[in-house]
Amino acid sequence: MSIQEQISLKPYNSFHCECIASHFAIITKAAELKEALDWCMLHKKPFIVMGGGSNMLFTQDIDALVLKMEVKGIQKTNETSSEVFLTVGAGENWHHFVSYCVQKGWGGIENLSLIPGTVGASPIQNIGAYGTEVQESIVSIEAFDTKKMQWVILNNNECAFGYRTSLFKLNPNRFIIGTVKFILNKQPILKTDYGAIREVLHDRNIKHPSLENVSNAIIQIRSQKLPDPKVLGNAGSFFKNPSIPAQQFENLKAQFPNLIAYPISDETYKVAAGWLIEACGWKGVRKGNVGCYEKQALVIVSYGIQSGKEVYDFSEEIIQSVNEKFGIQLEREVNII
Ligand code: EPU
Repeated sequence: MSIQEQISLKPYNSFHCECIASHFAIITKAAELKEALDWCMLHKKPFIVMGGGSNMLFTQDIDALVLKMEVKGIQKTNETSSEVFLTVGAGENWHHFVSYCVQKGWGGIENLSLIPGTVGASPIQNIGAYGTEVQESIVSIEAFDTKKMQWVILNNNECAFGYRTSLFKLNPNRFIIGTVKFILNKQPILKTDYGAIREVLHDRNIKHPSLENVSNAIIQIRSQKLPDPKVLGNAGSFFKNPSIPAQQFENLKAQFPNLIAYPISDETYKVAAGWLIEACGWKGVRKGNVGCYEKQALVIVSYGIQSGKEVYDFSEEIIQSVNEKFGIQLEREVNII
């Protein structure tokens, strides 16, 4: 493992914003992690872990050791007549892993096709789309516990998974994910209830969809609705869909009958942040080199920003205006560094 100095992170983040890391190392083997952390202790430097850089916004230069996780490998560790168990390196590209499973006929994560980022980042924010969350297919996670300075195995029920959250998100820098163990289904039950999936399958005249059909439908939906980071810098959904008390929902619904929300318990509703942002007039708005994406208001795009600060300031304006109009405080989904 070599530690490089004064490295630009521009090629490593999906907003393509400039940010200089004082120190940078690529981790390709789990054993190198301990070495890197020992270096941090010796030099009294903090560390920042990054995967694909697709959910990070760099707002300033970094005086720390940036660890780019590139531990690779997809290993079948066990198999029954109905299930297969895979241990996957944190540095594997997420969509590449999904495609591999789809090709093999192993189901469970096909609805998460085309989500940017790496396998190691997927449990941190418990990525989710089209009625599926990654936690449903995770058995356990092997992570380096930086407090105990040793590798630990965390079973699914120890990972505190929730909507776009986990133990890893709640305790930043405590655990560094090395591998994720998945359970996938050889006779998968496909989740095609989501309206847009049904429409694509219907348009393609597919009555009995295969895993591949569902994955392809999702690739089509995402490609049409979400900007390609290679063309327009972005980090997918910039905000989380907020939860509000039922009473607040009732009051808002009376005032704004088109409000999109659904109950998640007797007392709480989840509101579509995209709708709130659009209702405040932000959809398609551009200010300087930053904009609210014209086809999905939840996504902030870069038209060539220099610093992530430009995106941060723009997001702050959106948060304020949603708060003023609806009394709802949006939370960023993207990690601000
Ligand atoms: N909506 C609007 N205006 C918009 C965007 C959305 O009115 O600009 C409305 C839609 O019409 C729909 C509702 O909001 O009725 C929900 O929209 P959508 O189904 O597109 O999903 P979302 O809540 O906007 C979430 C995830 C996405 C994921 C989709 C599909 C979050 C923060 N985002 O978006 O995840 O792909 O559901 O399941 O939960 C990501 O995290 O990067 C991401 C793209």
